[in-house]
Amino acid sequence: MIPRGPFALPLAGNLPWFLRDKVGFLTRSAAAYGDVVKLHLGEPTYLLTRAEDIQHVLVDNAVNYDKSWRLTSERGKRLSGRGLQTSAGATHLRQRRLLQPEFHRRSIETFLPIVLDRTRRRLSGWNDGQRLDLAAEMESLSLSTIIGALFGPGYLDPALEEALTVRRRYIEYVYGSLLPYPEAWPLPLVRRYRAAMRYIDAVIRREIREPASPHGFAARLAAIAHPDGSRMTEDQVRDEILSLTSTGYETVGEALAWTLYLLARHPEVEARVRAELAEVLGERTPSPEGLSRLTYGRQVLNESMRLYPPTWIFVRMALGKDTLPSGAPVEAGRKLYVSQYVVHRHPRYFSEPDRFDPDRFTPQAIAARPRFSYFPFGGGPRLCIGEHFAVLEMQAVLSQVLPAFRFELSGDAVTPRPTITLRPNGGVPAVARRRAG
Ligand code: HEM
Repeated sequence: MIPRGPFALPLAGNLPWFLRDKVGFLTRSAAAYGDVVKLHLGEPTYLLTRAEDIQHVLVDNAVNYDKSWRLTSERGKRLSGRGLQTSAGATHLRQRRLLQPEFHRRSIETFLPIVLDRTRRRLSGWNDGQRLDLAAEMESLSLSTIIGALFGPGYLDPALEEALTVRRRYIEYVYGSLLPYPEAWPLPLVRRYRAAMRYIDAVIRREIREPASPHGFAARLAAIAHPDGSRMTEDQVRDEILSLTSTGYETVGEALAWTLYLLARHPEVEARVRAELAEVLGERTPSPEGLSRLTYGRQVLNESMRLYPPTWIFVRMALGKDTLPSGAPVEAGRKLYVSQYVVHRHPRYFSEPDRFDPDRFTPQAIAARPRFSYFPFGGGPRLCIGEHFAVLEMQAVLSQVLPAFRFELSGDAVTPRPTITLRPNGGVPAVARRRAG
């Protein structure tokens, strides 16, 4: 089966259509051209739409597929650090094994008080009738939370939040541009990024050497040892922490913003979520165990990340030639697009795919679909290491926000703006209404 695809211009290929509307173009191409779609986006690229092919690439034959070479290039490593996110092969495996225990359910439960504290602080700043951008609020909350998780409960540093935001925007610019400016050019954008990086680096190194708290990821990662007793070097710990600062907050903030948006549009679902919160948690401070019993809340989060997956696409590069389960041949060096957005909205797996319906995630409904028809956290050896952290955080935030406030959306329906992650275009403007009692 030789992949086919939409009409491509001689030089520009499919770029004019792709750049105009990335998610729309990919979704339409997937509907029109079958299991594997051939696209011309700077270079020939295959878009995978079948769960079996995705499972093959991410899990069954993962050794044959590298992450995006832009991410793992020298520039990518300078931007994102040489941590889990950008390493490959044996180095990745060794680091992953070393770090994994710190991300197990039991380990990350110790961060729950930080999430609750940061959420309460944020809520105490909201008033009845106040206009808010829920996207900005949730992003800022998740940023403050990851900083607390990294450096300890009492760690509050607006300058660090600002620096991490500058860095994030710069990374977005580099990955979002066809030909980003060279790093050496002294443009304002680059200068601001460099200053931000100096500050971030100084904070991380100080917190590795003299942690403000022994309970933050920084202190915990600095203390772990390989089976032979050796420790990571300061540079390695610094890189892993840097990688957590870029992977660990924007995704969570976006998922929360989209969830609040969907709940505001579907009051009957929101009422069910609140009823569950009242029944399971009541007035008590949520415990990890209590949060894990919010099964309907979890279905809502799943359905929200189906429609608006924060990581909406990622790349794999074929190291050697291969044949996918659907029969498509893959040449060595071929670039593959694996898009959650496309697969999560494919009618092959989800009927009426644009409709919000958390009952798609009952255990029976999940069991009836192939594993990789839904993969907001990826899969295989590169599965998101922060999945438990993210779910705990999102459940905890919603458990505090929803009983206290409801939101009236202002303006039109929000559309997604696909950058590295899937942001709400123009934010989620809303008016907060405090609930009685
Ligand atoms: C809703 C929130 C999140 C989503 C949707 C998400 C999604 C993902 C996805 C899809 C990947 C795999 C990328 C690939 O295979 O190319 C990934 C990797 C990763 N994520 Fe997350 N993530 C989230 C939250 C977090 C959090 C909270 C942390 C840290 C505290 C985190 C840390 C990481 C790291 C370090 C990796 C690289 C893992 C590796 O390659 O071994 N993520 N994430």
